[in-house]
Amino acid sequence: MTKVVQAIRYDRRMIGPHYIEPLFRPPSEARSLILQVTNGCSWNRCTFCEMYTQPQKRFRIKAQEDIDRELAAVAAEDIPIRRIFLADGDVMTLSFRRLRGILESVERHLPGVQRVASYCLPRNLRNKTVDELTALEELKLSLFYVGCESGDDLVLDRVSKGESYASSLTALQKIKAAGARSSVMILNGMGGKRYSRQHAVNSARLMNDAQPEYLSTLVVSFPQGMERYQAGFNGEFEPLDQAGLFREMHWLLENLELENTIFRSDHASNYLVLKGTLGKDRGRLLDTVRAALERPGAVPLRQEHERGL
Ligand SMILES: C[S@@+](CC[C@H](N)C(=O)[O-])C[C@H]1O[C@@H](n2cnc3c(N)ncnc32)[C@H](O)[C@@H]1O
Ligand code: SF4
Repeated sequence: MTKVVQAIRYDRRMIGPHYIEPLFRPPSEARSLILQVTNGCSWNRCTFCEMYTQPQKRFRIKAQEDIDRELAAVAAEDIPIRRIFLADGDVMTLSFRRLRGILESVERHLPGVQRVASYCLPRNLRNKTVDELTALEELKLSLFYVGCESGDDLVLDRVSKGESYASSLTALQKIKAAGARSSVMILNGMGGKRYSRQHAVNSARLMNDAQPEYLSTLVVSFPQGMERYQAGFNGEFEPLDQAGLFREMHWLLENLELENTIFRSDHASNYLVLKGTLGKDRGRLLDTVRAALERPGAVPLRQEHERGL
């Protein structure tokens, strides 16, 4: 995994969907067909996220007839498609009925598809029952990338995520109860210096309670400046330097009590690449973080020019 989000590079000759760009998807969906069933994000208020702020990314839902037409065009190409990622950032805001219609269309046109995935905000599941999620899972919608970002309510409030520890946990538990899997994103550095420890400890607590199948961390980054972010912190946000980021990662790891979660901290925003399965690899990962902190140069780090979002 090199990036959690990056613009999709697709071959226009191979597949037919119409995309409103920029388009983002998790790195593990690099080989999936991207089906853009919604445009943008209906929330769009998280102060760290600039992904859908351009005018063409105003939230919009694609008509079912257009989705059907795009799937028929893909099917006509006769390329084996095994995985589909539903874009953009907030697909699960669609009603159960709309989602079921999309998945039935996928099944009709591309019966070889084995897995459908999408991003998912915790509140997207508030009005969906476990039975409904189970029905969607049976139609192959079985993996949700959930941007929890933090388990700390104060930090979540400062960044206008519109979610809390409790809302995030409820959503992750619903996903599990429906037999689907979740891949959670936590943002390293999100609380700045002041809230670093509580952000790490409460994020670990949330993960321990939820036991997601996948967990990844990204370093919060501000390619377009920190103005919007600072406003949420009343101008008092102090970004973590490298050592601060590593110290926070150490707090996170030492508080994680996961039974069987694939952990990745290898997105391009990270200086220090960490990969393993938690809990069995926790000791090794902690050793690596400690080495990076205590013996500069001992662990190779991603250089600034190699980093990105
Ligand atoms: C395209 S967003 C969609 C996620 C989905 N809407 C949600 O909130 O769960 C994917 C993820 O990118 C990450 N992201 C967005 N902006 C970021 C930034 N400025 N720095 C680091 N990660 C960022 C966040 O973890 C976010 O959840
Ligand atoms: S909900 Fe997700 S896509 Fe929407 S603004 Fe927040 S992080 Fe970005």
